[in-house]
Amino acid sequence: MGPSMSEITLRRPDDWHLHLRDGDMLEAVLPYTAAHFARAIVMPNLVPPVTDTAAAQAYRDRILRALPEAMEFTPLMTLYLTEDTNADDVVAGFRDDLITAVKLYPAGATTNSHSGVRNVEAVYPVLEKMAAAGVPLCIHGEVTDPEVDIFDREAVFIDRVLRPLRSAVPGLKIILEHLTTRDAVDYIREADDGIAATITTHHLIINRNAILVGGIKPHYYCMPVAKRETHRLALRQAATSGNPRYFLGTDSAPHPDSEKESACGCAGVFSAINTMACLAHVFEQEGALDRLEGFASLHGPAFYGLPANDDTIRLVRRDAPVAFPDRIETGSGTVTVFDPMFPIHWDVAED
Ligand code: DOR
Ligand code: ZN
Repeated sequence: MGPSMSEITLRRPDDWHLHLRDGDMLEAVLPYTAAHFARAIVMPNLVPPVTDTAAAQAYRDRILRALPEAMEFTPLMTLYLTEDTNADDVVAGFRDDLITAVKLYPAGATTNSHSGVRNVEAVYPVLEKMAAAGVPLCIHGEVTDPEVDIFDREAVFIDRVLRPLRSAVPGLKIILEHLTTRDAVDYIREADDGIAATITTHHLIINRNAILVGGIKPHYYCMPVAKRETHRLALRQAATSGNPRYFLGTDSAPHPDSEKESACGCAGVFSAINTMACLAHVFEQEGALDRLEGFASLHGPAFYGLPANDDTIRLVRRDAPVAFPDRIETGSGTVTVFDPMFPIHWDVAED
């Protein structure tokens, strides 16, 4: 190892929150995730959404067909919870290993969420059956009440929806996804160990200035929207703390540039390509490179009750900045790659 270069070997990471889309887009983005990650929790917000086990199985087959032959990757499928979800189908799908979790989108919270849940109490009976069978619930934790300011929607969700839900269905295993606030970080730290949280790479790197200063920057717009700097610092502290109830879910969410760079641009940051390199940078800055493996490779499987991956990846610090593409081509147009606004020196070594 040269004097200005260092490297770190980790168990192969998993991505506990990922959008792979379908068709052309799936084909274009999947190899980037599969290059670094062994498994991913695959979001069900397709059009139409993946609402039952049969649809999840068909989607899993399409993902595996899109996977280049030489690559290995295990998609962990989720079902999109609606007020019509059939609990028996969920439990059977979970027992047969066809699904790994169920996803709760409050209706209208984000991309393709209009068939989500309007009244959370209406799904309590399903959640009770999930709790009894050990099926985890992934939650997009934002209220959609138009009276609530968009920057407050996560904190308000915790008080208005999550606390009552956890009292009503105490045994339910929950993953609160893509934390963006100090409030959520604190809530998770103080909660019992039936709940954990994912944090994205981009929310460790950007605050809301990235979206709004010097012009409107649609490629930094995602849901939940990035908050002010104090929140970003709390997220970095949480991710690098070693606490096993915070782990990586990239929420890499590709959209064609034409749909992001528009009068009504879609929410989503595409980070699958450089996520591990960006994380190495962040953990190095925080003096916590030794905790990256926990965050990216160990805490997630432990919470889901799955084994960690046996194989490893090697992250290498290069002297010169590593060049990532600004955008990738897909059959549905170009997709811009997350730009962390700092030079990236880390790279996943191809052994
Ligand atoms: O920014 C986001 N994009 N947040 C979400 O919750 C959904 C995702 C998407 O599907 O594009
Ligand atoms: Zn998402």
